[in-house]
Amino acid sequence: MTEYTFDTQVLPGDDAGVAAAGRLLAAGQLVGIPTETVYGLAADATDAAAVLSIYAAKERPADNPLIVHIAELEEIYNIAAEVPEAALRLAKAFWPGPLTIILPRGKNIPPEVSAGLDTVSIRMPSHPVARAIIKASGKPLAAPSGNRSGRPSPTEARHMLEDMNGRIPLIVDGGECSVGVESTVMTLCTQEPLVLRPGAVTAEQLSAVLGCPVLLSHAITEGLKEGEAPQSPGMKYKHYAPKAEVTLVVGDTAQYTAYVNAHAEEGRMALCFAEDEPALQIPCVVYGAADKPEQQAQQVFSALRRLDECGAKTVLAHCPQTGGVALAVYNRLLRAAAFRVIQL
Ligand code: TXA
Ligand code: MG
Repeated sequence: MTEYTFDTQVLPGDDAGVAAAGRLLAAGQLVGIPTETVYGLAADATDAAAVLSIYAAKERPADNPLIVHIAELEEIYNIAAEVPEAALRLAKAFWPGPLTIILPRGKNIPPEVSAGLDTVSIRMPSHPVARAIIKASGKPLAAPSGNRSGRPSPTEARHMLEDMNGRIPLIVDGGECSVGVESTVMTLCTQEPLVLRPGAVTAEQLSAVLGCPVLLSHAITEGLKEGEAPQSPGMKYKHYAPKAEVTLVVGDTAQYTAYVNAHAEEGRMALCFAEDEPALQIPCVVYGAADKPEQQAQQVFSALRRLDECGAKTVLAHCPQTGGVALAVYNRLLRAAAFRVIQL
C-alpha cells in the first residue's frame, strides 16, 4: 500500500495557482487540473516515475493507458511517431476541444503513459486554465480523469478533492466543467477511423471533416462479449459507478413516471429529466431537460455523485436518447448501470 502524506491544497485558477501547478508538475508531482470536459489528474508525460504515480493515486489498473494533453499543435510531432493528414484535419477542426486522437507512439513518450501499447492518445483541451498550466509546466501532461478508479468523473474541484484528498499536493479550481463528459476518443491506427468512446464531438461531425465513414465501436452500446479483446483497455472496466445500484428505464415521460411511481421502495431514487420531476412521487435528482443532450452531459456526473450524497440505494434513471451528443450520456449511464436496462 502506498502511504499518502500530502495535505491537498486547492488554489484558484489565477496566475498564482497556475504558476504553483507548473512548478509542481515540472518537479514530477501530480496536480488536479480543470479541463472543459472533466477534471484531470496530471503529471509530466515524459517522466515515467511521475506517470506511474498517477496509476497509484487513482488506483488505476496498470493496463489502462493515459491521454497526453498539449497546448500547441506543433507539440503533436514530439508525441506521435507519425502524424497522418487526417489527424491534422481533425486537429484543425476540433482542437482545442473535447477530441482525443490515437496515433502511433513517439519515442519521447515512455511506454508507461500508454500502458505498454505502441500507440498514444493526444488531446488539446480548450479550458484556459488547463492550457495555461500545460504552458507553465513546459511539458506535455498525461492526465486521466481525476476520479478514483470506478467513481464518476469529477466536474468540480470539490469532487476531485473527495476522491484525491491526501493523495496529491494540489488541485487547481477552474470552476464547473462546461462539457461535463470526457472527450471523444477516436483512433486513426485502425483500417478505418473508429470512435472508442463517444463524447461531445460526434461521429457524424468527425466523418464530415474526414470525408469518409467513421465507425463506432460496438462496445460503446453493447459492452464486451465474453473473452473479447477490448480495442481500448478502458472498455473493460465498469466505470462511473455510483454506490447505488442504477437501472436505466427506457420510455417517454408518462411511461417513465408511471413506472417509477409504481415501483417506489425504501432507499430508491429517480435520476430524471426536468419534465419528469412534477409527476414523480419519490425523491429525485434532475440531469437536464429531455431534449437537451448538452445539458444532460454537463450534469450527469455531478447528478450521480448527488445520488450517493443523498444515500440512494437503488436508482431508476430515465434513459437518454442514443444518437449525437446523447450517445455519450447514454454510454456513461449504461456503464453506471452495469448494462441493466428496462424497456417500457
Ligand atoms: O476528457 C478527457 O478525455 C479527460 C480529460 C482529463 O482530458 N480524460 C480522460 O482520461 O477521460 P481517462 O484516462 O479517464 O480516459 C481515457 C480513455 C480510457 O478509456 C483509455 O483506455 C483510453 O482513453 N485510451 C487512452 N489511450 C489509449 C490508447 N493508446 N489506445 C486505446 N485506448 C486508449
Ligand atoms: Mg476516466
